[in-house]
Amino acid sequence: MILSGSASQSLAATLADESNEPLGFVEYESFPDGELLATAPEFEGGRAVVVASTVSSDAHLELLQLQDAAREWGAEEVVTVLPYMGYARQDRAFDRGHPISARAVARAISTGTDRVLTVNPHEEAICDFFDVPAESIDAAGRLAEPLPDDLTDPVFLSPDDGALDIAETVRDTYGDGVIDYFEKKRISGSEVEITPSDTDVTGRDVIVTDDIIATGSTMSEAVSLLQERDVGRVFVTCVHPMLARNARTKLAQAGVEAVFGTDTIERAVSQVSVGPTVADAL
Ligand code: R5P
Repeated sequence: MILSGSASQSLAATLADESNEPLGFVEYESFPDGELLATAPEFEGGRAVVVASTVSSDAHLELLQLQDAAREWGAEEVVTVLPYMGYARQDRAFDRGHPISARAVARAISTGTDRVLTVNPHEEAICDFFDVPAESIDAAGRLAEPLPDDLTDPVFLSPDDGALDIAETVRDTYGDGVIDYFEKKRISGSEVEITPSDTDVTGRDVIVTDDIIATGSTMSEAVSLLQERDVGRVFVTCVHPMLARNARTKLAQAGVEAVFGTDTIERAVSQVSVGPTVADAL
């Protein structure tokens, strides 16, 4: 049975269809003191698949509760799907006294599951933080689906060298175009400095790809630099469309033609589902 966290209901429904596993009717409650209660429906033994993007502290908590509830019903196996793993970018102690947050949450999640699947984590190495078998699933190829068929001499661009593999996967799936990347220096949580490459983008359509759009600073800065040249259309695409605060407005003001993301984080821009890719991995 598929058991969904409240933030991942659409993806969980797609996953149930794709994997031919029943979708459980989970109930979500909260108490006056802010505590949560996620209740799993009765099921008989077998495998429970808990699907929850940990987009907030509450989502983390729901995930732990659903794992525990599945065990209470006697699940023989609990598989945890983290379409988006929160805190994955805090994968080391950046200063004295800092925790390795990705490791801390991975350890907590490991206590209630037999196996973990996570989609395009920021760094694959975070899979080593889990105490149970954990694997990353590459769903970046799906980002080619919503792109128009008539792209002009396309450039698949990563706003930094870290997401070059995603740009390459999207280009390969689209079937035409070159890949390129900019250099990025992070100034603060919401400020970045980007140095463009010298690729001639005149009249060409550019698809900027990344693993995540969080504050939108990286993408909007990259798009603004492209708009300073005589670029064609600029599309922005990412696996995890977090789009925190005013990120979507930043992108619009920078001059994007369209923004596409997957449903690892369910947003208005979630044009494609990672459900089929996750179902294959299950
Ligand atoms: C960092 O290396 C990631 O790949 C993203 O580029 C980054 O996390 C995006 O964050 P923001 O949208 O806040 O610039």
